[in-house]
Amino acid sequence: MTIQNQGARHVAIIMDGNGRWAKKRLLPRVAGHKAGVEAVRTIVRAAGDMGLEALTLYAFSSENWKRPEEEVNDLMGLMKRFIVSDLDEFAANDVKLKVIGDWRALAPDVVALIENALERTSGNKRTTLAVALNYGAQDELVRAATAAAAEGAITAEAIEAHLDTADMPPLDLLIRTSGEVRLSNFLLWQSAYAELYFTDKLWPDFKPADLQAALDQFGRRERRYGGL
Ligand code: IPE
Ligand code: IPE
Ligand code: MG
Repeated sequence: MTIQNQGARHVAIIMDGNGRWAKKRLLPRVAGHKAGVEAVRTIVRAAGDMGLEALTLYAFSSENWKRPEEEVNDLMGLMKRFIVSDLDEFAANDVKLKVIGDWRALAPDVVALIENALERTSGNKRTTLAVALNYGAQDELVRAATAAAAEGAITAEAIEAHLDTADMPPLDLLIRTSGEVRLSNFLLWQSAYAELYFTDKLWPDFKPADLQAALDQFGRRERRYGGL
């Protein structure tokens, strides 16, 4: 596969469809989430190879707590295993981990694992992998506006400076898998002028070639930002 990226610096993905992937195979939903973690591994590697500076992945929303306790536990368990088992992989691929959302409110053992991983990968440079955990854009905006107000005027610049993504490049492309055409409370501010890309592929089936197809289409889009 030729590796090519037409100018995108920051791509975000709403990784949806794990449950349906499992259902199609008559497997429990957790099997879909496990397959989803495999897809994450492959796509993180591909994103680096394609020259992306940043990849933001929606892993657990602030609304996903509405799911049955067993599924929430399965997701947290997979998250913990991913963070621990992939530290070497992050080092090998020069991936710097970042976590966005209200992750400090998660269970203490998860918070400790995240803190360790953030520290261990802080010197890596090639790609920033931002994992959205207990993330909701409305919550992020409330936190950012509150912080901005505490410092003075609530301006667009002040809010932006307090977003969880403040130190990342502007969002270029937002991808959602599984055929759903909605944002589900993800990166509402950041997607103001992002290009949107929807695919029917379920997340566990999303391959580097699919990311390449999205980037190719991004390269053919004309971004106007309200101008001519
Ligand atoms: C996405 O897959 C993973 C998370 C939201 C954690 P889903 O679990 O939402 O899968 P579907 O949408 O039910 O197929
Ligand atoms: C969005 O998917 C959240 C993640 C991918 C983590 P959902 O499956 O939770 O979204 P809805 O419920 O279909 O809007
Ligand atoms: Mg879903």
